[in-house]
Parts: sequence; C-alpha cells; structure tokens
Amino acid sequence: MIFTVAIDGPAAAGKGTISRAVAARFGLAHLDTGLLYRAVGAKGGDPVTAARGLSEADLAAEGLRTLEAGQAASRVAAIPEVRAALVDYQRRFARAEGGAVLDGRDIGTVICPEAEVKLFVTASAEVRARRRWLELGGEAGPRPYPEVLAEVEERDRRDMGRADAPLRPAEDAVVLDTSDLDADEAVARACALVAARLPGAEAGR
Ligand code: DC
Repeated sequence: MIFTVAIDGPAAAGKGTISRAVAARFGLAHLDTGLLYRAVGAKGGDPVTAARGLSEADLAAEGLRTLEAGQAASRVAAIPEVRAALVDYQRRFARAEGGAVLDGRDIGTVICPEAEVKLFVTASAEVRARRRWLELGGEAGPRPYPEVLAEVEERDRRDMGRADAPLRPAEDAVVLDTSDLDADEAVARACALVAARLPGAEAGR
C-alpha cells in the first residue's frame, strides 16, 4: 500500500503531536522533516554541503529541538539548493510501501502533491508562542513570553515569505485550527480524516 499523509503548518501548531499519533494509530512510518533542516542548520559550515551530506548521525545530534536550532533551520531552509538536496529522500519516504506521515511546511505543496490526505495544522501566533513558552518552563523558564512570541512571528514571516516552497496550505488541504482544541481533540479530528481515506481502516474506531 502506498499512502501518504502530508501534515503542514507553522511552528508549534501541533503538527508533531498529531503526526506521531496518526502514524502510531494507523501503523504508518513517520518523518519529521523539520528535523532535516534543523540538522543542516546545526551542522555549521556551508549549508548546501551539509544538506548534501546529511547522515543519520546528524539527525540524532543533541540540541536540535531548541528555539535557536529552529531559527537556524528556518534560515537554511530559505536556500533553494538546501531544499533541493533534501527532496529525493523525503519523496522516497513519502511513497515507500507501507504508507507514511510526513510533517513540515511544503509536504502537500511540493514534496508530495499527490498525498492521499493533506492537513494544514495552524493556530494563532499567540497560542503557539504560549505553548512553546510553557514547554520551556513558563515563568520559571529561561525565556520571557514576549521574546518567544517575537521568535514565532519572525519564523512565520521567514517561512511564509521565502520564494522557494513558502509555507502555505495546498489548495486541497483540510485546515485544522488547533487554537481552541486540546491535543486529544486535534488528534481525533486528524485520525477521522485519515480513517475516511485509508483503504481498510474503520472510520470512527
Ligand atoms: O517543524 P520545525 O519547527 O522543526 O521546522 C524548523 C524549520 O525548518 C522551519 O522554521 C522551516 C524549515 N522547514 C521547512 O522549510 N520545510 C519543511 N518541510 C520543514 C521545516
């Protein structure tokens, strides 16, 4: 079975939680494509060379989940040669036998426009920044909320404004706004959508 679930959206909208849950529920492979760009940004040196030589070990490097690594990823992701170097790997993963969930910014638009399910997961910048801030420890954490909000907005601007594969919903994507949903509700909606399209899956199970 070839079956691709493309999950795109801005930072901290809930893509990761939804993607992992959908993959586990339906037994699909999962690729967090943001990790590829984070690894390229963290490697240092020439980003194009880093992208062309990316290895499994690079993806397991420490510190790839920090806000700083996210900003570095967003910067290298605007370089067309970096994106081009990562396309084949993502396409092969998306169309591999057994089915796959990929989350990122351009999965439904560029990497796999033929995906059987396309979701665009979003939420207001304030809600997303608040989630990130709480993950970082909230009041007791190292970053004041306004600073986290400014970073989220800066990353949105860069990811949506770049010329090559900008962040936007595919025309046939289902938009899921998680601003007023908790994680369980968001996951349930995504699973219902996949179940309705996956051969052999029982809807509403
Ligand atoms: O999903 P994330 O926060 O880990 O992504 C980090 C950055 O990588 C994001 O700001 C933009 C870039 N990215 C991208 O351009 N295309 C993707 N498919 C995934 C991530």
